[in-house]
Amino acid sequence: MTDPAVTYSGYLKVDELLSLQQPRSQGPEHDEMLFIVIHQVYELWFKELLHEFDRVRRMLEDHESDSVHRAQHTLKRILTILKVMVAQLDILETMTPLEFLTFRQRLEAASGFQSDQFRQIEFLLGVKAEPSIRRFPEGSRARVALQQRYGEPTLWDAFLHYLSREGYDVPPPLLARDVVAAIEPSSHVQRILVEVYRRDTKNAELCERLVDLDEGVQEWRYRHVKMVERTIGAKPGTGGSAGAAYLRETIGRPLFPDLWEIRSQL
Ligand code: HEM
Repeated sequence: MTDPAVTYSGYLKVDELLSLQQPRSQGPEHDEMLFIVIHQVYELWFKELLHEFDRVRRMLEDHESDSVHRAQHTLKRILTILKVMVAQLDILETMTPLEFLTFRQRLEAASGFQSDQFRQIEFLLGVKAEPSIRRFPEGSRARVALQQRYGEPTLWDAFLHYLSREGYDVPPPLLARDVVAAIEPSSHVQRILVEVYRRDTKNAELCERLVDLDEGVQEWRYRHVKMVERTIGAKPGTGGSAGAAYLRETIGRPLFPDLWEIRSQL
């Protein structure tokens, strides 16, 4: 017996996909569809980003000579996705505060705050917090994934190991650092990075892509806060935080502080 021919909708599971948008408001309220679709699109982008980040990290750990070029190529894709993710906030900003209020109370305590994939991305980038894991039920997909990422080296760790393999004198305690700890500035790493920027074009390019990434994540956070401010003002969030005031505290914190620190030393 031959397999049935592959079709567009069969391959992409279009019927299943289109059955996943289920508004909670009566009517339902017109704008709830946009709200659901855009969040689902973000979750798909988060999934794709994690897929690509894992590849970049593997490539930086790889000993093949051209792996840095492939890592850069993948980082370029990540940065392009990030730009699209920031731009997509424009769509949600077409929803006015009153339009959001037509269904907001139906969200109850649901909030992007509970996105495990967003936390996975943060973990991978070195922003790790154990309470984020405990929010999910034991044995759930989200908790298992977060637990796994919590113990894994961050992208910065992979980068430090890569620099060491490239012949730079990264201090052994930094190579063996606790991958759960926050990424702190290091004057030793800064001296290495200044050297890279002055004499090593290939790796300086890689550093610039990491700065793009850091700036891109901060840009998303900034745009999200502004969207929150214009949509709900100073009201608390559905996730139970102070809302925009909480989110404002998360902006402007660099992921890779050494890469910013050296700008004034060049
Ligand atoms: C009208 C649109 C939106 C509003 C009013 C809004 C509001 C908020 C608020 C107030 C918070 C703080 C946590 C809380 O208490 O709920 C938050 C967090 C968050 N939101 Fe949104 N949000 C919106 C759209 C989105 C979209 C489209 C995404 C995409 C996935 C998103 C992702 C997140 C994430 C990841 C957090 C956690 C940020 C962190 O802890 O650093 N939000 N949001």
